[in-house]
This record gives sequence, C-alpha cells and structure tokens, in this order.
Amino acid sequence: MIHPLTLTLDNPLLKSKNIRIAIYRGDLEHKQAPGNKWHKLKFNLEAAKAQGAKQLISFGGPYSNHLHALGNIALSYAITPIAIVRGELHPQLTPTLRDFVKAGGILWPSKRIDYRAGMESELVADLKAYYPKAYWVPEGGSNSLGVKGCCDWAQEIHAQAQALGEFDTWVVSAGTGATSAGFLAYETKNENNSPDVLVFPALKGGEGLLDDIQRFALTQNPQTDIERLKIIGDYHHGGYAKLPQELKDYIEKLHLLNPELKLDPVYTAKVVYGLEQEIIKGHLDNRNLLLIHTGGLQGWSGYQ
Ligand SMILES: Cc1ncc(COP(=O)(O)O)c(C=O)c1O
Repeated sequence: MIHPLTLTLDNPLLKSKNIRIAIYRGDLEHKQAPGNKWHKLKFNLEAAKAQGAKQLISFGGPYSNHLHALGNIALSYAITPIAIVRGELHPQLTPTLRDFVKAGGILWPSKRIDYRAGMESELVADLKAYYPKAYWVPEGGSNSLGVKGCCDWAQEIHAQAQALGEFDTWVVSAGTGATSAGFLAYETKNENNSPDVLVFPALKGGEGLLDDIQRFALTQNPQTDIERLKIIGDYHHGGYAKLPQELKDYIEKLHLLNPELKLDPVYTAKVVYGLEQEIIKGHLDNRNLLLIHTGGLQGWSGYQ
C-alpha cells in the first residue's frame, strides 16, 4: 500500500535535493471507513458496545467524512448512529447525509450558534435526556480513543514502511489534529528512528493546533518526543473546504501524473500541494518522506 508519488516538480530537482517521497494509500483501506476514519472510530465503537450503548451520537457538517463513515459501520456493531448536523437541514439532503440515513442513521439539525456550543448546547441537553444511555463521540471522532486508534495505525504503517527502507518524516493533514497526535505518540522500538511528523492543517490558523496535538500525544504516550512535530500552516487555501481554482488545477495535474491516485479537496490535496512548495523552498532537502493519504474522497460530493 506504499506507492511512489510523482510530483509536478521535475524529477531532477528532487534528485538534486536528495529527496525520496512515497505515499501510503490509506484511502484504499477499509472501504466503508477509509483513511483515518476507521482508526478513529474503532475503539469508540468497541467502547460503546462494551458499555451496552444502543446509540452512538456524534457531530459533523453536512459533508462530513466522519459522519459518513460512522453511518457505514455503526450498525455492524448493532449501534444506531445519530448525527448532530451543523446548520439547518435542507429538504434535499446532501449525498453524505442521504447515505447516513440510508444506513439507518438519525439526523438532528443544530443551528450554527448552538452547534458551536458543542456539549454545552441545549440540543445536547435534550438528546442526553432522550437517549440516556447513548455513547458520545466528538466531531471528527477526535477523542483519546480516536488518538489511540491512530497510534495503532502508525504501527501498521511503520511495519510496511520499514520493508522499503527508512522514512524519516511522515507527512499528514490535520483538522482537529487527533490523527497526527496518534502518529506522534507512536515511537518505534529504536526511539532514535521514530519519524518526524510534518503536519499541514486544512484550516486557517492551523499552527494553533500545536499544543492540542502535543497534549493529545502525551496523553496517549507520556514518553512522546514532542519535538518531532512540525506544523506548517501556510497552505489552507483560504480555509476549511475552500477550493480555489489554483488548487483544483493542481489536483488535475497531479492526477495526470499519478493516474491511480485521487486526492480529496479538503485535506489531502492541500498536503501534497504544501509539500511541493516546501520542497521548492529547500526546506526538506535530504529527507525520506512518507505522505499518509487519510481518505476523504466522498467529500467531493460537496463540489460540482
Ligand atoms: C480525509 C481526512 N483527512 C484528514 C483529517 C484530519 O484528521 P484530524 O481531525 O484527526 O486531524 C480528516 C478529519 O477527520 C479527514 O476526514
């Protein structure tokens, strides 16, 4: 599942900078919950089951990858997925929410102001009374069990990567930062060769995730060398879910060079774009880079 990645840069340029680059195709894992989704949800679903919960309630936007995956897999745990959806519901549901409902999920729309209040909102108070035994998971599946799942995932990735030689730097996208925290918390037996984790946030102001990611990682593994984390916040392309023409063109160009590779518009396309720019700037010379594809392709349904 690790493939070479051809960038739009000239190969001689990469050679002259002594850079090796490959991509771990997380998007090809677990059809119903690809990329990081399965890894963030699996321990939560197990915990819900162990507690005897009949429902799992979580949060997300109308095109959320997390909700889509949750809908796809919750019923196989005999758990009803329930979504608190940001904003009003329109009579014509988004493809993501349609799939969620088709899979047996229940939707509760939440006004944006209420949604922002998270667990403190009035709707949550009402739903707690209505579903007293439900298991709650934050937006994106980003709690300590989500981080634990991504830490386990890092071990699986490392096992495959090792067969191909040394990768000194892993590259990944971030929304909440839980996935990168799991990667950071993973340390190889020889701690001197645990990879650096280079994070490209999909949101504006993503540099602010540093503390959260380090804290999450330390909770998972108190020995984590948090200096291995680096965040580059310059490639959000206007903010979460923004897809300017320049990024669209880049996705197409990269796809022509890597016909088997699809990037999602919200997370992974921004990572590859940012990575190329950092290479051009000479910030990654002599690195062996492993980019982790975190999935999210269903998110294209939000774009024409
Ligand atoms: C496809 C994809 N990649 C990356 C991320 C970012 O993950 P995290 O919120 O754990 O940083 C998400 C959100 O969960 C996602 O859906």
